[in-house]
Formats: sequence, structure tokens, C-alpha cells
Amino acid sequence: MTPRLGGPLPTGDAKADAVRRLFDTISPRYDLVNRVMTFGMDAGWRRRTVRELRLPGRSLVLDLACGTGDLCTELEARGYRAVGFDFSHGMLAAATTPVPLVEADVLRLPVRDGGADGAVCGFALRNVVSLPALFAELRRVVRTGGRIALLDASRPDNRVLRAGHGLYFEHAVPLIGALLSNGAAYAYLPRSMAYLPPPEEMLGMLREAGYPDARRFQLSGGLTQLLVGTRS
Ligand SMILES: C[S@@+](CC[C@H](N)C(=O)[O-])C[C@H]1O[C@@H](n2cnc3c(N)ncnc32)[C@H](O)[C@@H]1O
Repeated sequence: MTPRLGGPLPTGDAKADAVRRLFDTISPRYDLVNRVMTFGMDAGWRRRTVRELRLPGRSLVLDLACGTGDLCTELEARGYRAVGFDFSHGMLAAATTPVPLVEADVLRLPVRDGGADGAVCGFALRNVVSLPALFAELRRVVRTGGRIALLDASRPDNRVLRAGHGLYFEHAVPLIGALLSNGAAYAYLPRSMAYLPPPEEMLGMLREAGYPDARRFQLSGGLTQLLVGTRS
């Protein structure tokens, strides 16, 4: 059943529950809609995310909120050892990656302190209940000197691009979602951008959370953003 997402944006446990049910609902066609919605650009964004890790071969990298595992597959293709974590059973069941996947809440990872060399996260920063809690978990599980690369949607700075992006995201995305998958779910995605703090605030949070060199890249003219950092 599609979770109710039409009213005010949920917070706390209600948000976690709504997000899990939303991704369970759209999981069967998630990859297809992604490819269509981004004109295939998501593959390049994921490649860049993994490239920014710059860790030695065979490093152990966690993919937080891995969904159907595209970043896991990219990590393995680049010579890393990867493990994916997600709390949506439907998304994990739809995954085709050979990488091991664990059904777990990324705010309470079943990983020992300093147990990972690095971590990535794709399009999930706005989906977690608390960004400070996610960043605290990234501080706990990544070893000193380890690297993180966090990818999410963004709004372009350029006024013209921003206007076009607004139209596309708010009108075309729900329509594509309705045609291929589930309209209510894909109408929620643009609204969920409101959960993301401004870039400087997110960078400040990451720096305070043990990633003092955290920096941000805008990809494809600012359609997406990539936050990278080294664990102090
Ligand atoms: C937009 S999808 C992104 C999936 C994948 N990372 C990708 O790049 O395609 C967001 C994912 O975040 C997961 N998620 C959100 N909050 C989570 C949490 N607290 N713990 C585990 N997974 C979570 C959802 O289940 C969903 O699979």
C-alpha cells in the first residue's frame, strides 16, 4: 500500500515508517524510473562518487541506504570490498548486485567502531530522520584517515537552470513516476528536498562530525551535489 505522503512532511518515527513503505512500494521499478528520470546521468554521478573516495584497492566501503545496490556494484567494479545496508526489504529484494546486503537502519549500523575504510551514500540524505545522527554514525564506523562520499539531489545556483529544474522536478518527475511506477510516491520525491539543509550548513555539520576537510562538488550544473571528506 502506498504510504500517505500528501500532507505536511512527516518527521521522526512517522518519517522512517513512511520512507520505508514508500521504497518498498516503488522498489520493483526503481532502477527503470531512475534511468528514465535522470536520462541515464545517474550512472555518471555514481561513478564520480566512488572515484572521489581515493582509497587503496580492497578497502572496505559501506554503502549506506544502498537501495537496489547500484553504488555497491560500482564500488566492486573499482576494486573495493563493499557491503550495502538498507531498511527497505523491497529495495534489497529487487537488488541484482553480487555485493552482500544487510537489512538494517543506517542510523544504527551493525558495524564495529572504526570498522570501515570508507562509506558512500546515494540519494538518501533527505530520507533519514536525522542528518546529525547519520553523520555521527559515519564518524563512529569509519576509521581515522577513511573517506566518505555522499551524493544527493540539489538545486542549480544558476537562475535559468534552477527554473527549468524546478519545472522538471515538480511536474515531469511525478508524471514519469505515475506512468511507470507510482504517482504519489514520485510526487513526494521533489517535496522531500525541503528536508535538506543549505549546503554550508551540511558542510558545517560534517566538519563538526569528524570530517574537517569536508567539501562539496556540484555535478551536472548543480542537479546533484557530492559531499566528500576524510575522517580526522
Ligand atoms: C532514493 S533511495 C537511494 C537508493 C540508492 N542509494 C541509490 O543510489 O539508488 C533511498 C534509500 O534510502 C533508504 N533509507 C532511508 N532511510 C534509511 C535508514 N534510516 N536506514 C536504512 N535505509 C534507509 C530507503 O529504504 C531507500 O532504499
